[in-house]
Amino acid sequence: MLQRLARQSTQTQFQTHAPAGRSSRYGRLLLVVGVLASLTACDGGTPRTENTGGVDQGVSGANEGRGAKPMKIAMSVPGSTAASTGQPHGQSRAEVYAQVRRMTALGKQMFFDPSLSGSGKMSCATCHNPDRAFTPANALDVQIGGADMHRPGMRAVPTLRYLQAVPPFAEHYHDSDDEGDESVDAGPTGGLTWDGRVDRGADQARIPLLSSFEMASTPRKVADAVRAAPYANAFREAFGEQVLDDEEATFKAVLKSLETFEQTPEVFYPYTSKYDAYLAGRTTLTAAELRGLQLFNDETKGNCASCHISQRAKDGSPPQFSDFGLIAVGVPRNRALAVNRDPRFFDLGACGPERTDLGGRAEFCGLFRTPTLRNVALKKTFFHNGIYHSLEDVMRFYARRDTNPDEFYPVVKGKVKKFDDLPRQYWANLNTEAPFDRKPGDAPVFTDAEIKDVVAFLGTLTDGWQPSAH
Ligand code: HEC
Ligand code: HEC
Repeated sequence: MLQRLARQSTQTQFQTHAPAGRSSRYGRLLLVVGVLASLTACDGGTPRTENTGGVDQGVSGANEGRGAKPMKIAMSVPGSTAASTGQPHGQSRAEVYAQVRRMTALGKQMFFDPSLSGSGKMSCATCHNPDRAFTPANALDVQIGGADMHRPGMRAVPTLRYLQAVPPFAEHYHDSDDEGDESVDAGPTGGLTWDGRVDRGADQARIPLLSSFEMASTPRKVADAVRAAPYANAFREAFGEQVLDDEEATFKAVLKSLETFEQTPEVFYPYTSKYDAYLAGRTTLTAAELRGLQLFNDETKGNCASCHISQRAKDGSPPQFSDFGLIAVGVPRNRALAVNRDPRFFDLGACGPERTDLGGRAEFCGLFRTPTLRNVALKKTFFHNGIYHSLEDVMRFYARRDTNPDEFYPVVKGKVKKFDDLPRQYWANLNTEAPFDRKPGDAPVFTDAEIKDVVAFLGTLTDGWQPSAH
């Protein structure tokens, strides 16, 4: 079994136990369909019996047999027709399903609706294009948004696929899947966005809607847009007749609907890649893909699988190609970004400035959440600051960062300024495991031919594979 050994070896403050690595974590559901108390405002103050706690059940049969753990869903669905008619009673399973279906359909329409934005021109799908696993169709380093559609962002757009597996953020993560040893501290892990600063899809959706450089909207504008939208009636049906009279309740229901849409299994975690078919014994990999897989897994070569898990979990669930650890890999500064025109500005990930709760905690500086590599071949921009635009370039970085640093970092007066996007006082946070364990003079981790093989393997992680296309 692949093990990441001492991922946090330079970060002893995270560890009380000798790290035995973390091999697997799967099917963790974060974007829980929490059609819960946060929506109580949406039923217009209708008295309602508080229902007993949530139950675990599959929302969709599509979950079963695909390894995704069943979605957690509350039996009480505020804002449902039952609640809005003022009949205080619990809900049947069928009613819960119906409400999830309504919210999914609404969330989908909102996801594609530019009228929710301040400019009227930008929807979630502008940056999260469904044809590209919900990443941008263009190859810009960062996207341009804002009320005037001229404001550049500061981070590359991540995929929205497979987020159901991201655990809530924890400073000290103890993986119950980890060889049964929950005493292993895997370090900071989980949370949504590159720095893990929110745990729920609804809280996350608030960020782009209100961001001055993304959708630049307000709860009022969003509520006005919903009132005028073709789905206004469906919205009232789902959340109650009075919901549109209350701007805050409307905004919350919008966020919840987007979260619910993002949990549609067949859209967001279909597990239909060639690699999934290969794991299921339904196809074979080409020689190049197999060599790439080998290099990806080899602890003395790429050691990629120590963070980007490639094997099934013990319970048989499919690999997510991330353990969701927050890690510093020393990505070079992207000098093309507007924020980086200020030489004093650093995007330090978990310690800020976008994330604020861990500010001043030096051990979190430079850490970004390990992204899934599923569908990575559909992406046009890589790493949190969007500095690279081909998988070959990303692989060259992994293979040669330490053997040939001058190829990635500025050279000033003959000296390489390594790790130029992370102030020196945080360098102890940088990962030092393979492939980051070499020095100048050593052979690079991969040859050019090996890079091609690993890229061929990464191509097997794209969803929608069909035997006939092979
Ligand atoms: C202007 C481009 C843009 C728009 C529009 C946009 N996003 Fe994003 N999205 C991003 C970027 C950039 C990030 C990473 C943010 C960060 O790390 O701070 C992100 C992150 C996310 C994440 C977390 C992904 C992860 O890996 O944890 C989710 C979920 C998400 N967006 C959903 C949405 C939804 C829903 C909308 C519409 C309400 C939306 N986005 C609109 C650019 C955009
Ligand atoms: C120690 C953990 C770790 C190891 C080992 C590791 N990665 Fe990563 N990987 C990360 C993190 C963290 C990021 C995001 C870094 C950032 O943007 O600052 C990342 C980003 C990536 C990306 C860009 C994805 C995107 O959506 O932008 C690719 C591709 C990738 N890794 C492939 C690999 C391959 C191939 C290997 C083996 C050669 C590997 N990784 C080894 C943690 C790791």
